[in-house]
Amino acid sequence: MPSLHDATVDLDPGHHRGVIDGRLFGSFVEHLGRCVYTGVFEPGHDSAEASGFRRDVAELVTELGVGLIRYPGGNFVSGYDWTDGIGPPERRPRRLDLAWRSIETNRVGTDEFLAWASSLGVEPMIAVNLGTAGVREAASLVEYCNIRGGTHWSELRRTHGVDEPHAVRLWCLGNEMDGPWQIGHKSADAYAALAAETAKAMRMVDPGIELVACGSSFHEMPTFGYWESTVLEQAGDHIDYLSMHAYYEEEDGDTDSFLASAVSMDSFIDGVVATVDAVAARRRSAHRIDIAFDEWNVWYRSRFPGMDSFALEEAGARIEDDYSTLDAVVVGDLLSSLLNHSERVRVACLAQLVNVIAPIRTEPGGPAWRQATFHVFAAVARLARGHGLVARVTSPGLRTRRYGDVPVVAASASHDPETGSVAVFVTNRAPGATRVRLRHPAFPRWSVRSAELIAADAAGPRDREAAARVRLTPLPTSGDSRETNLVLPPRSWTVVHAHAGREDPADEWVRR
Ligand code: AHR
Repeated sequence: MPSLHDATVDLDPGHHRGVIDGRLFGSFVEHLGRCVYTGVFEPGHDSAEASGFRRDVAELVTELGVGLIRYPGGNFVSGYDWTDGIGPPERRPRRLDLAWRSIETNRVGTDEFLAWASSLGVEPMIAVNLGTAGVREAASLVEYCNIRGGTHWSELRRTHGVDEPHAVRLWCLGNEMDGPWQIGHKSADAYAALAAETAKAMRMVDPGIELVACGSSFHEMPTFGYWESTVLEQAGDHIDYLSMHAYYEEEDGDTDSFLASAVSMDSFIDGVVATVDAVAARRRSAHRIDIAFDEWNVWYRSRFPGMDSFALEEAGARIEDDYSTLDAVVVGDLLSSLLNHSERVRVACLAQLVNVIAPIRTEPGGPAWRQATFHVFAAVARLARGHGLVARVTSPGLRTRRYGDVPVVAASASHDPETGSVAVFVTNRAPGATRVRLRHPAFPRWSVRSAELIAADAAGPRDREAAARVRLTPLPTSGDSRETNLVLPPRSWTVVHAHAGREDPADEWVRR
C-alpha cells in the first residue's frame, strides 16, 4: 500500500506572472478526418443551423471556453489552395488531400470558418501554406480577409457576400516545416528565408497582424535548437511568436512517466524561451518574441495505423482517440505547465477540437458528447482569469523511468484582483494519496467556493456512454483563512476555486 505523501503549495498575491487571456485556451480545427465534416459542420443534422454548422457542437465549444481556434491545419495546410474554398460552394473543386489521404470537398472554406468563429466570439488564427505555396498566396489571403475593399481580393470577398473585412490578427507562417512528413518540407535556412519574405509581404498588406513562425514539430526532432536559432536569426525581426508542438502518450504501461509529461513540457518551453532570448541577445535585438504552443495534447501516436490504411474518402474517421480519466489528469497537468509559463507562452491550442484527438466527439446524424479531457480544460478556461500566480510547491519526489525524480505534486494558480477570484490547480502524480497544505496567509479574506477533482480510474471510461458520464467530483476541504487542507486521491487533478481579496487598508485603519 503506497504511503501518504505530504506537500505544500504557497500562494502570495504579490508573486504573479503575465495576464492570462483567452488565447491561452485556444484549440484547433483542421480539415482532417471528421473534425470539420460531420464534426463542427453537418448540414442535414437535426441541430444544424442554416449555415450547416451544428448547434449542439457549437454549444459544447462555448461550454469548453475556447478563446481562439487555429485553422485550417496542420499538415493539411501545406497542400491547401485557399482559393478552392471561396465562392459558390457548388463550384468548388473536390481535391485530393495528400496530407490525410482524403477527398476534400471544400464545402467549408475561409469565409464559412471565420463566420462560424465570429458567431462563437472566438478569435481565429489562420495558417498560410508555405509547403506548396508561398509569398503571393499568403499576401493575397491577408488581402482577401483584412482589406475593406477596392482591391481584387477584397472585392472578391465582397462579391461572396462578406462586406466587412474579417480582420484576422493572428497568422501562422506554415505548419511543421521542419518535419520530413510535411508536403514541401524545407531545410531550416530555406524555411527561414521564405518565412521572412512572406511575413514582410503579409505585413505590407496589413501592418496590424501578428505572425507565428514554425518552431520544431516536437522536442525530439533531430534539428531541435538548430532549427529555432536559424529561424530566429533570419526571420526574427519579422515575427512575434515562435511555435511549439508536443503530444504525449502512455508508453509501455509506464503510467508514472506519462503522469510526469508536464515535466517534459516545462523543459521544452524553458529550452525554447532560452533559445529565443539567446538569439535576441546575440542580435542585440529588443524585439519581443513569445511562444505560440499551437498544438498540444495527449495523442496515442503509437496506435496510429499509418496513412496506407486509409481509404480515399470524404470525411473518413482519422485519429479519433478515446480519452481516459488518466489522460484527463495529464491534460490538467499540462495546462498547469502552460499557466506557469504564461508570461512567455501567450498562445496555446489544444489539438484538436472535435473528433480528431479532441475533447468533443460526435456521431454523424447522432449526438455530440464530452470526452474526459473536456471537463479539465473547461474548468481551467473558466476559472484561470486575471493573472498567473506563482504557486510555490514543496513536494517529495516520485521516481520515473523517463524523467528520473519528479515532484509528486505540481500546481498552478491564477488571481483576478478585480473580482477577488483565485483558482488553484493541483496534480497528484503519485499512485497513493497526497496530503496538501495550501497556504495563503496574504489573502486574509480567503474562502473556498468549491474544490473538484478527477482521478485516474484504470477501468475506464470504456465506451461513449461511460465517457459521457465522467464528471469532476467534489473534494472535501478543511482549514481557515490562512490555509486550506486537501487530501488528493491517487493520480488525480484538482481545482480549488476561492474568493479572496487583499485586506482593504480602510478595514485595517478601523481595527486600529
Ligand atoms: O494535429 C494533428 C497533426 O499533428 C497536425 O496536422 C500536424 O501539424 C501535427 O503533426
